[in-house]
Amino acid sequence: MVKRVRYDSGPLSLQKHNHVCVKLGVSIFLVGLAVRLLLWDSFSFSSVVETSPLEDAKAESPVLSSDIQASDSDDFPGSNQNQNQNQTQISKDEKCDLFVGEWVPDLSGPVYTNESCRVIEPHQNCMKNGRPDSGYLYWRWSPRDCELPKFNPKKFLKLMRNKSLAFIGDSISRNHVQSLLCILSKVEPAVEIYHDKEYRSKIWKFRSHNFTLSVIWTPFLVKAAIFEDMNGVTSAEIQLYLDTLDQWTNQYENFDYVVIGGGKWFLKTAIYHENRTVTGCHYCPGKNLTELGFDYAYRRVLQEIFKFFANSNHKATVLFRTTTPDHFENGEWFSGGYCNRTVPFKEGQIHMIDVDSIMRGIELEEFEKAASLGSQRVNLQLLDTTLLSLLRPDGHPGPYRKFQPFAKDKNAKVQNDCLHWCLPGPIDSWNDIIMQMLVNA
Ligand SMILES: *[C@@H]1O[C@H](CO)[C@@H](O)[C@H](O)[C@H]1NC(C)=O
Ligand SMILES: *[C@@H]1O[C@H](CO)[C@@H](O)[C@H](O)[C@H]1NC(C)=O
Ligand SMILES: *[C@@H]1O[C@H](CO)[C@@H](O)[C@H](O)[C@H]1NC(C)=O
Ligand SMILES: *[C@@H]1O[C@H](CO)[C@@H](O)[C@H](O)[C@H]1NC(C)=O
Ligand SMILES: *[C@@H]1O[C@H](CO)[C@@H](O)[C@H](O)[C@H]1NC(C)=O
Ligand SMILES: *[C@@H]1O[C@H](CO)[C@@H](O)[C@H](O)[C@H]1NC(C)=O
Ligand SMILES: *[C@@H]1O[C@H](CO)[C@@H](O)[C@H](O)[C@H]1NC(C)=O
Repeated sequence: MVKRVRYDSGPLSLQKHNHVCVKLGVSIFLVGLAVRLLLWDSFSFSSVVETSPLEDAKAESPVLSSDIQASDSDDFPGSNQNQNQNQTQISKDEKCDLFVGEWVPDLSGPVYTNESCRVIEPHQNCMKNGRPDSGYLYWRWSPRDCELPKFNPKKFLKLMRNKSLAFIGDSISRNHVQSLLCILSKVEPAVEIYHDKEYRSKIWKFRSHNFTLSVIWTPFLVKAAIFEDMNGVTSAEIQLYLDTLDQWTNQYENFDYVVIGGGKWFLKTAIYHENRTVTGCHYCPGKNLTELGFDYAYRRVLQEIFKFFANSNHKATVLFRTTTPDHFENGEWFSGGYCNRTVPFKEGQIHMIDVDSIMRGIELEEFEKAASLGSQRVNLQLLDTTLLSLLRPDGHPGPYRKFQPFAKDKNAKVQNDCLHWCLPGPIDSWNDIIMQMLVNA
């Protein structure tokens, strides 16, 4: 059994409990965790090697690309008749919950590799970095009540003609967008048309489809003053403006589709501002401020976000992604925690840690509230990837966030990443689900 704090009540009932003690306890180590891990964010992205679309095309593995070229129709590459039948079935069956199911073996494997996709961030390029096992690549998410077809890049790009899709959030959103870029590049390589100074926000264009894909780095989604250098070393507390949404809102009108999510950064030490005054903080001993808890801040921010979508004059489809679990075992990131499993869990073999449960509880509650108001303007949908991702302890880079970590010393002590996902890897299935949600929409 995995070392996890067990919650007998399900995640849904969690919000009814009072978690002050738990909260403080976990926040102490998580402050550290979040500082280091999520700040890989900053320095890693700038080291991505940009290749021209031409090079990208040349690099495509012949086997994989001929597969796709061979199919002229929009049929799902690699899918068989039965899957297509079930595909028809799924569209009629509104009841299918895409987020309840299990991981099943899938011999067809990923549609891209480290060779065919050159935008994989070095820290997530597990193949290239020398991860020895490859079993984690041969699973697909199988919802209990229906078949989930593999992502169909042709069909997706067709649907996205003249449209714009933005991923808004932290480094997990970037992890996610890179998966999408890799899948789509099998049909048309993207051309990067913008990046910010730190290479954290980017815009790509798929010219022959007139499709614009963006990623916006805004780890808190609200305005924040972050005093950390590129190595994640903090020089002062984060100042967080809970009632002031970050600048992504200025661009919202440009987007037809949005995938938004966050969470983990709220575990950091922060001073909270509301209505132009300091109202409290999270984990700031010695400051004589009220400890409001990260849950307070996260809930407040989600309320602001849903209010913004509902009140905007712009009409868009917004997928709200729930928090992503990490899989450190026998320690945390700073105390030798690792994630060396090579197969997925079955349902019931693992339980969410408290902070993830608390976060997802808040997310579900605030989403439900927002969705029940039924704004005419926003088509708000839940992308509830938490539980299916929880079942994939095998999908993280672990020590292979660095190139050949054990080349010099087989017993080298290296930092593990049990939070982000290898590419290719389980996060690709998040896109299978998005495809399904948008096709059905
Ligand atoms: C199609 O879905 C049904 C349930 O809706 C399932 O029983 C059947 O096994 C599925 N077919 C395939 C090929 O997976
Ligand atoms: C891809 O990964 C393999 C190992 O799986 C490695 O030999 C190869 O150099 C990598 N290619 C690139 C372009 O990173
Ligand atoms: C895309 O935009 C062009 C130019 O405005 C238009 O001719 C075309 O019909 C549009 N296609 C779709 C699918 O909206
Ligand atoms: C591209 O799409 C935009 C809408 O997003 C449209 O205004 C423009 O005309 C399109 N351009 C072409 C060349 O189709
Ligand atoms: C914000 O603060 C001002 C005074 O600084 C007060 O008049 C106002 O009621 C406050 N608004 C809210 C929403 O708390
Ligand atoms: C803490 O703040 C309260 C009210 O804001 C004040 O009354 C108290 O004197 C402060 N304590 C210290 C030690 O500064
Ligand atoms: C994971 O690492 C631990 C500690 O080094 C070891 O005991 C265990 O056998 C490893 N598990 C796998 C699946 O490699």
